[in-house]
Amino acid sequence: MATESSETSSSPSNTKFYTRAEVAKHNDNKKTWIIIHNNVYDLTNFLNEHPGGEEVLLEQAGQDGSESFEDVGHSTDARQMMGPMKIGEIVQEERTVDKPEKSSKDWSGEDGESRKKKKCILM
Ligand code: HEM
Repeated sequence: MATESSETSSSPSNTKFYTRAEVAKHNDNKKTWIIIHNNVYDLTNFLNEHPGGEEVLLEQAGQDGSESFEDVGHSTDARQMMGPMKIGEIVQEERTVDKPEKSSKDWSGEDGESRKKKKCILM
């Protein structure tokens, strides 16, 4: 006799996937969803807690706020706060390809291509 144990407990992730059109419907202060780096966040309850104010969030409501979010240069703290507000991700075919570069090393100014110079000392 086979024991049936097809419970969902073994499913590795229960990530919900949304299309951009789906996210776009939640664009006011009653439902404020924003896409940041292909993740979908429900910021409805965060609007009046956001240190940057609710206005900026409402401007991006229903849209992709990745650029604005990065422009501000949000702290690590801010990035950690986002975690629990994530409600899902953008469907594969509508994902944007983010540049892997993080703003953490911006000061270097170089493109990561370091040229090695050999010095030759002539006597
Ligand atoms: C889940 C999403 C977000 C979280 C958790 C978040 C959190 C925060 C936090 C903690 C700060 C205080 C400064 C810091 O620690 O970096 C901040 C400031 C700010 N945020 Fe956000 N933020 C989010 C999304 C956004 C988005 C989408 C925008 C732009 C449309 C934005 C615009 C700003 C602005 C303009 C400030 C003020 C910066 C300043 O006063 O210098 N934030 N945010």
